[in-house]
Amino acid sequence: GAQREALKARIRGLLARENAVLVAHYYVDAELQELADETGGCVADSLEMARFGRDNPAHTLVVAGVRFMGETAKILSPGKRVLMPDLEATCSLDLGCPAEAFAAFCDAHPDRSVVVYANTSAAVKARADWTVTSSIGLDIVAHLHARGEKILWAPDRHLGAYIQRQTGADMLLWQGSCLVHDEFKGIELELLRGQYPQAKVLVHPESPMAVVAQADVVGSTTQLIEAAQKLDASHFIVATDQGILHKLRLRAPGKTFIAAPTAGNSATCKSCAHCPWMAMNSLANLADALERGRGEILLDPALGARAKVPIDRMLDFAA
Ligand code: 13P
Ligand code: SF4
Repeated sequence: GAQREALKARIRGLLARENAVLVAHYYVDAELQELADETGGCVADSLEMARFGRDNPAHTLVVAGVRFMGETAKILSPGKRVLMPDLEATCSLDLGCPAEAFAAFCDAHPDRSVVVYANTSAAVKARADWTVTSSIGLDIVAHLHARGEKILWAPDRHLGAYIQRQTGADMLLWQGSCLVHDEFKGIELELLRGQYPQAKVLVHPESPMAVVAQADVVGSTTQLIEAAQKLDASHFIVATDQGILHKLRLRAPGKTFIAAPTAGNSATCKSCAHCPWMAMNSLANLADALERGRGEILLDPALGARAKVPIDRMLDFAA
C-alpha cells in the first residue's frame, strides 16, 4: 500500500543521493526488479549483471541477488563500492564448494583446465583458469575441448553433465547442486506435460538430467526469456525459480507460463521453486543498505585481482 510506495520513493532518493545503481537478478521480488528497471539499473542473468556493473559509471553498485554476484561486481570494479541488501544471501553451489577442498581437488588433477561456474566464492575463482555462467558455459567448454584440453569442472554436477553430453568433452565433475533446481523431478514434469501437451518446456541447466531431457530450450534465465518471446507457442512450462515469471509475463504478454512443480503434480505455485537466498532481498533491507552503507562487499585486493583473471577471460570470450 502507501507504505511500500513511500519506501520505494525513499530508495529512489537514496540511489540518487549515493550515486548508486541497482543491479538485480530475475529471481528477486518483482518490486525490486521494477525499481531496478525504473531507475536506470538492470535486471539480468549473472553474466549480464557482471558486465553491467563493470560498465556502469555509478560510484556504488547495489547488487540485489546472492553473494557471488556481489563479489563478482567487486572483483570487476575494485574502485566502486558494492552493497548488498543482505550479505548472508548465499547459494547452495557456493556453500557446497569450500575453497580448501576445491584446491585439493585441483592439486590432484594438474593436467586439467579448471573451469568454475560463476556461483562460487572469490577464493574458488582465484584457483580457476576460466569462470563461466549458464549462458556461456557450453560455448567455452566446446572451445577448450576443440583445443584438446581436459576439464576439471565445479561445482554444479547437472550443468557439468549437460555440457559434457553436448560437447563430448572429457570433464571431471565436482558433485555440487542447486537445492532449488534439484527439486524439479522428471516424473512430475511428465505428468504436467500430459495436461498441457502443446506447451513448450523451458529449463535452466542446473536442473537434473531427467528434467533437462524434456526441454525444448535449455538456457540461462535471459536465454529462457528470449526463447519465450521468440517461440511460436501459447503455453510454456518453466523449470527455474518462480521469480522469472514476472519478466516472462511482461516480455511475452498474452502467453501463458506455468511453473514446473517441485512435488506432486500440482500446477499451482504452492509447490514451485524459489531460492531462499534470493528471497532475502527486500525493499526494507535495500533501503537500509543505502541509507547506512551497510552490507558492503569487502575483498582482499590480491585475492580479487587473482579471481578477476578467469572472469575477464569469460567476458572477453563473450564479447
Ligand atoms: P543465470 O546466470 O541463468 O541467471 O543463473 C544464475 C543462478 O543462480 C541460477 O540459479
Ligand atoms: Fe544458487 Fe540455486 Fe539460488 Fe541460483 S537458485 S542462487 S544456483 S541456490
